[in-house]
Amino acid sequence: MRPLPPSTIVGVVGSGAMGQGIAQVAAQAGHPVRLVDARPGAAASAVAAIAKTLNGLVDKGKRTAAERDATLNRLTAVDGLPDLAPAGLVIEAIVEDLDVKRRLFAELESVVGPDAILATNTSSLSVTAIAAGVARPERLAGLHFFNPAPLMALVEIVSGLATDPTIAATLFDTARAWGKSPVRCRSTPGFIVNRVARPFYAEGLRLLQEQVGDPASIDAILRESGGFRMGPFELMDLIGHDVNFAVTRSVHAAYFGDPRFQPSLIQQELVDAGRLGRKSGRGFYDHSPGADRPAI
Ligand code: NAI
Repeated sequence: MRPLPPSTIVGVVGSGAMGQGIAQVAAQAGHPVRLVDARPGAAASAVAAIAKTLNGLVDKGKRTAAERDATLNRLTAVDGLPDLAPAGLVIEAIVEDLDVKRRLFAELESVVGPDAILATNTSSLSVTAIAAGVARPERLAGLHFFNPAPLMALVEIVSGLATDPTIAATLFDTARAWGKSPVRCRSTPGFIVNRVARPFYAEGLRLLQEQVGDPASIDAILRESGGFRMGPFELMDLIGHDVNFAVTRSVHAAYFGDPRFQPSLIQQELVDAGRLGRKSGRGFYDHSPGADRPAI
């Protein structure tokens, strides 16, 4: 198979942490990108945030001003799904909720052309189940980026039961053309990365609950002795506790309550308190400007 040509319009639905990063990746790879979000103004803010990121890269000499301008010229914040009609690929990065994603894809199917590929960035939901809600499930696959999408090379190309292998192959080659390192997998709870990552978070949370160590100490050990780029608490703060808790619950339920994947009450508390990590300014750590102290 060949990758989608750069002339293919890419629609991105959801302009949060992931949608913003994915839109940047696709635009940098040469695609015209249309970004949409249910929250008014959110897509425009995401484009502004991408501009800020690219300005920073220009200042550091990692991009030329011409490259920045070309990328920004390819990015458009649009108002609604009908604006995605000419897209050849639509990547969904909205809330991690099966019913909401199904509703979105059903609506998208009535908007895009017959050859458009539909992709979900879900971390943990069944691609098979998401696709079961559309009329043509063979054109839907998982295209699972990692946070932050512009920096993380890995992308899981996830096939549901009905996914056409040529669609998965096109997405694989497209991800590679975008400078990523794609891997293929079948749709199983958590796919590969989120399945092996769950015990990483869960064991850290158990250590904290048992008061064996605080987040900063546990993170430091994993970073400095374990060779991980981030410890479990830093990583959960980066991902966002709302997202990470939803993924934990979904993987736990999907494995019929297997205790290896059991969510922690600490996660529940953080979500209930609105301490979602970096995105809200506070999680395990205090991320407010100037703060250098752990919050917990
Ligand atoms: P987020 O909460 O930062 O952004 C989600 C965005 O989607 C919000 O701006 C929200 O307004 C918008 N949205 C919600 N429902 C919508 C709808 N029906 N139509 C249009 N826009 C809608 O979430 P984040 O972190 O970007 O996650 C998005 C998806 O990516 C989830 O499925 C998540 O599991 C997955 N993911 C998240 C990762 C992470 O580290 N945060 C990593 C890889 C995948």
